[in-house]
Amino acid sequence: MHGLAVTTVEGIGSTKTRLHATQERIAKAHGSQCGFCTPGMVMSMYTLLRNHPVPTMEQLDEYFTGNLCRCTGYRPILDGYRSFTSNGTGNTSEITTTTTTTTPTPDGEWWCKDGRHLHQNNDFIPYDPTTELIFPPELKVRSDLDSDYLVFQGHRVTYHRPTSFTNLMYLKHLYPEAKIIVGNTEVGIETKFKQCVYPVLINPTSVKEVTQITLNDTGIQVGAAVTLTTLQEQLILHTNSLPDYKTRVFSAILEMLKWFAGRQIRNTAALGGNIMTCSPISDLNPLLMAAGATLTLNSTEGGERTVPLDQHFFTAYRRNIVKPEEVLVSVYIPFTKQDEYIHGYKQSRRRDDDIAIVNGGCRVSFLPDTITVSKLTLAFGGMAPTTVMAINTCKELKGRAWDASLLEEGTSLLLQELPLSPSAPGGMVEYRRALTVSFFFKFYLTVRGHLSVSVPSLVPGLTPDEHRVTQTHTYEHTASAQLYEMVPADQPELDPIGRPKIHASALKQSTGEAVYVDDIPDFKDQLHAVFVLSTRPHALILDIDASEALEVEGVVDFVCHRDLTEEQNRYQVPLADEEVFASKEVKCVGHIIGLVCAKDRKTAQTAAKRVKITYQDLPAIITIQDAIREKSWWPPLTINKGDVNTQLHSSTHRLHGEFYMGGQEHFYMETNAHLAVPGREDGEMEVFSSTQNPTATQMQVAHTLGVCGNKVVCRLKRMGGGFGGKETRTISVCVPVCVAAKKLGVCVRVALDRDEDMVMTGGRHAFLSTWQVGFTDQGVLTAVDMDLYANAGYSVDLTMAVMERSMYSVDNGYNLGCVRVSGHACKTHLPSSTAFRGFGGPQGILIMEDIMSRVAAYLNVDPTVVRQRNLYQTGDLTHCNQLLENCTLRRCWREVMEQAHYSTRCQHVQQFNSTNRYRKRGLSVVPVKFGISFTAKFLNQSGALVHVYTDGSVLLSHGGTEMGQGLHTKMIQIASRVLRIAPEYIHIAETSTDKVPNTSPTAASASSDLNGMATLNACETIMTRLSPIMAANPKGTWKEWVKTAYMECISLSTTGFYRTPDLSYNMEKNEGRLFNYFSYGAAVTEVEIDCLTGDHTVVRTDIVMDVGESLNPAIDIGQIEGAFTQGQGLFTLEELVYSPQGVLITRGPGAYKIPGFQDIPREFNVSLLRGAPNPRAVFSSKAVGEPPLCLASSVFFAIKQAIASVRSDHNLPPVFRLDSPATAERIRMACQDFITAKIEPSPPGSFKPWSVRV
Ligand SMILES: Cc1cc2nc3c(=O)[nH]c(=O)nc-3n(C[C@H](O)[C@H](O)[C@H](O)COP(=O)(O)OP(=O)(O)OC[C@H]3O[C@@H](n4cnc5c(N)ncnc54)[C@H](O)[C@@H]3O)c2cc1C
Ligand code: FES
Repeated sequence: MHGLAVTTVEGIGSTKTRLHATQERIAKAHGSQCGFCTPGMVMSMYTLLRNHPVPTMEQLDEYFTGNLCRCTGYRPILDGYRSFTSNGTGNTSEITTTTTTTTPTPDGEWWCKDGRHLHQNNDFIPYDPTTELIFPPELKVRSDLDSDYLVFQGHRVTYHRPTSFTNLMYLKHLYPEAKIIVGNTEVGIETKFKQCVYPVLINPTSVKEVTQITLNDTGIQVGAAVTLTTLQEQLILHTNSLPDYKTRVFSAILEMLKWFAGRQIRNTAALGGNIMTCSPISDLNPLLMAAGATLTLNSTEGGERTVPLDQHFFTAYRRNIVKPEEVLVSVYIPFTKQDEYIHGYKQSRRRDDDIAIVNGGCRVSFLPDTITVSKLTLAFGGMAPTTVMAINTCKELKGRAWDASLLEEGTSLLLQELPLSPSAPGGMVEYRRALTVSFFFKFYLTVRGHLSVSVPSLVPGLTPDEHRVTQTHTYEHTASAQLYEMVPADQPELDPIGRPKIHASALKQSTGEAVYVDDIPDFKDQLHAVFVLSTRPHALILDIDASEALEVEGVVDFVCHRDLTEEQNRYQVPLADEEVFASKEVKCVGHIIGLVCAKDRKTAQTAAKRVKITYQDLPAIITIQDAIREKSWWPPLTINKGDVNTQLHSSTHRLHGEFYMGGQEHFYMETNAHLAVPGREDGEMEVFSSTQNPTATQMQVAHTLGVCGNKVVCRLKRMGGGFGGKETRTISVCVPVCVAAKKLGVCVRVALDRDEDMVMTGGRHAFLSTWQVGFTDQGVLTAVDMDLYANAGYSVDLTMAVMERSMYSVDNGYNLGCVRVSGHACKTHLPSSTAFRGFGGPQGILIMEDIMSRVAAYLNVDPTVVRQRNLYQTGDLTHCNQLLENCTLRRCWREVMEQAHYSTRCQHVQQFNSTNRYRKRGLSVVPVKFGISFTAKFLNQSGALVHVYTDGSVLLSHGGTEMGQGLHTKMIQIASRVLRIAPEYIHIAETSTDKVPNTSPTAASASSDLNGMATLNACETIMTRLSPIMAANPKGTWKEWVKTAYMECISLSTTGFYRTPDLSYNMEKNEGRLFNYFSYGAAVTEVEIDCLTGDHTVVRTDIVMDVGESLNPAIDIGQIEGAFTQGQGLFTLEELVYSPQGVLITRGPGAYKIPGFQDIPREFNVSLLRGAPNPRAVFSSKAVGEPPLCLASSVFFAIKQAIASVRSDHNLPPVFRLDSPATAERIRMACQDFITAKIEPSPPGSFKPWSVRV
């Protein structure tokens, strides 16, 4: 930080002074839900504006590659910020609409057509760059700050910043083991996550020789400490001024840099760091190797030497030939020659900001005016412990003509030369092998394209199909439309119901003022807790020895089961089958054994690693298959409708199959954070907890501390996202902290690191299903017999309820005839799987949609036709025998088909597929029907508390928690309508168990319904009390009426209560009312896949969703877009990878990929169904949180359609299995072709896999 000024989100504006335009626009464009990512978004935009006051959309796309949001689905963020760009209207005050409606949409005065109305661009503060903060003058004039030799001596580490080459060399001579750091993006990971300690660090960024870039006649010399952004900028400059052929190598590097990490990393990471890290998946090394780069090394002892970056440079995993005392000074990259071509390739799980699965650099030179190869260089990453060159392949192909036989032979040679052990670290063995050949094939075609221009007489031009293969991916800007019903013209201005009000906390979130649990200031004598976790999946604990940990300075105590009685140690949310601290047996990797409390987090972390646990390993069950083999499950559940066996046997057609769907990590942006504040009297405890379930937290804390519930208060203002992950599992993290606080008598806090959170808390259940269905020639289903298996982890948690909901959801939108569905909750040695948005619904729905796709393929009918023939309508009975009233499913289906121009686009897709072999498109429509209410009947209740103060202000409390979904905003809107006062009068301070007791978790999409009704009830009570006063003074004001009521001793405080009526389902008899009502919707999605790499792009999505009469269309559309994006991650991108020993490998954002800005549909249109009031919820609204997530399965099935097209080209069977998620690997390997045909997978059981499908 020396000599630097740091500007934070708090420094650029605030709600108390003046908002910065970046803060205001994201908030008003509804781009902030939970708000946890919002400061990061604001600062990325701020940085962009400081560098480019009127940026382009391309720059906007690029600056946000390193930012993630789990709530919004990105569209509103882009819409708000597009207003700054030259493609929008830049910084003028005349800002017009920023979203585009590219499709004709249902019109009319009751409809609002685009983002212009969800937010008013003309309301935005004009952005004036001249008013920006200036760089502190005192720093500006102090040039010594940048040029001084610096030494910082710390407790464990000494940091040097030399300013001359001689000094740099001398330091490396003195400290050969010293780390040279520039961006610290690699070393930082090693020290933080791998516990590496480097006593001497040398920062060379003030040394000219390693930071300069020079150009000569033959190439470019780049200092090793040049950052990737600087390299990018310089290469662009030179590419624009030098002859094209010379800079082909620059273009290849620039293309690779586009997909190298995110902008933030590229701004700081250096070229030398990438080479010297020696990562086998470094993005630049294969390309630099192919380019024939050379490296200049220097040391005091040996002087300067130049070495080629070739097959001899990397000697082993993360090793190279550079001597410890040597420094990498510069990298020389030669220009490409006239007859030379070079290209780089990279395939990762997510296109943006992700490390490669496989990458490659390919260069070929030809004898002048021929197609004869004079030199070929192929280098690959991700195929061995180091970047490798395919030396033999290149040697064999030298002198050959660049034609089909070279391709054929090259393919075989490459597969021979780059084998992978079936147990290779990283897994995906066949896919990685296929990728090397796919890259080579792409290179072959690209070069053929070049040759067809340079020697047209020898090489014909590429067909359009081939040309498409050679195109690189470009950022495409998004377009969108949002349609919703406007409020009636005669609705009072004051009444906010139905209006797109912004999230009540959005401005505080965008300025960094919003308080999350870990923002609560430190308390006196407060301690930090770090967990000691099991490293074994299943073992007896023979001994726990914390003595070494307790010796660490600053450590206060170690807390474990010994601090509790057996009864207190019983964790009973929801059933008593777990312990707070494992006492005798650990049941998963990540099982909580104890807690180290220390004066700071770092000390606690160091000490936690010193707690020694002695285990005796026991056999472990990790996968669903293991559990089926061992019959390890809780008692199965069954729903039966009709005589399935008879119906199956009499069906015209029968089909059976199996389908697997992986789990999902919640990846709420705010990890588990809890603060326990012990009271001074009567065993009281105040808990600030990031939880969706304050009451269960309160009651478990009370049980564990051995006090009554009335001594414990659980409070929170908001969460940075929850998605179900904070319904129960968060309590298991919170309670041990309270135990420590009670034992030590001081406040104890915890805020988990991302990797800790991912390891300790389970996510969405992975499901396996086996099924048999009967159907007619028309594809109408007559019988379904299905078994579901869920990987529940080591405890039951909410699994039975999740399983029930999957069973209730397997019909999705279809009338299935006779149904038998059985659910098996499998007990394994993994962290306990838990609630996750949709709560089992997405699994049940995806399984049925997969059946639909296979039935259609079997009958050779468009899946859309089969789906449509089976759709429910009003009057039908579900498989749980619930009568469908006001069923709007067919309306949603019809309207979305119209909105999306399904028929026309279907023809376009067919046309596209008939003329393209290597890229395919798919178009899919799926419906959703989602039952609303908790399936545990007692949870369908809620409470509210309303205080009206004598100044007319209202303090509203209700039982729900705010996690970004806009619940508080909607509750304020409801209170505002009933009390007939402006929302500004109403405040929600927090959710707290001492305000509203015995609350249900905020879950099941039901919180607006439940708490909305309770709020309505309380507010109506207040209005009933005020009505005589109002009648007596009809011209009075709210404040006057309140004052009068007070003077007349009328209570201005009341509670409200609601319970959902008529729920009465009995699974055994399969009768009674299961749900309060159903939410409906439908989506059409088009995708394009790259059959050679498995990459895909969502071209367009249209959604029509029935949310009744929306309480707040901006919030509801935000929920739809956000849920859809989360579902897209679930069905296509997010893959939890476990080792065979049950260790989660994908922990943290580096390995686990949620959708980013570039993954959302390039065109995304969302309509709220009009004229569909719901008589069974507050103000005719409907729940919205979960149902739209299931619509993202349209992406999955569009992908499956696209794969079906390529398979049909190769005459492969039309009915095929594609499991979820449809990752790049699964897509590529399902597109069987001449490449995959050459790759023989190793038979299962013949090797030890690197990872297992749990
Ligand atoms: C979020 C994230 C995303 C990433 N994405 C990618 C990606 O997409 N593709 C990719 O390839 N990599 C990626 N990386 C890895 C990393 O960012 C790059 O390797 C980067 O180029 C390292 O540069 P640095 O300056 O930060 O290295 P540092 O961490 O500063 O140093 C890395 C290593 O190089 C050594 N070193 C540095 N300079 C010299 C020198 N002059 N002489 C001798 N040794 C030297 C250091 O001692 C150290 O061992 C990512 C990292 C992160 C954290
Ligand atoms: S608003 Fe972006 S993570 Fe919640």
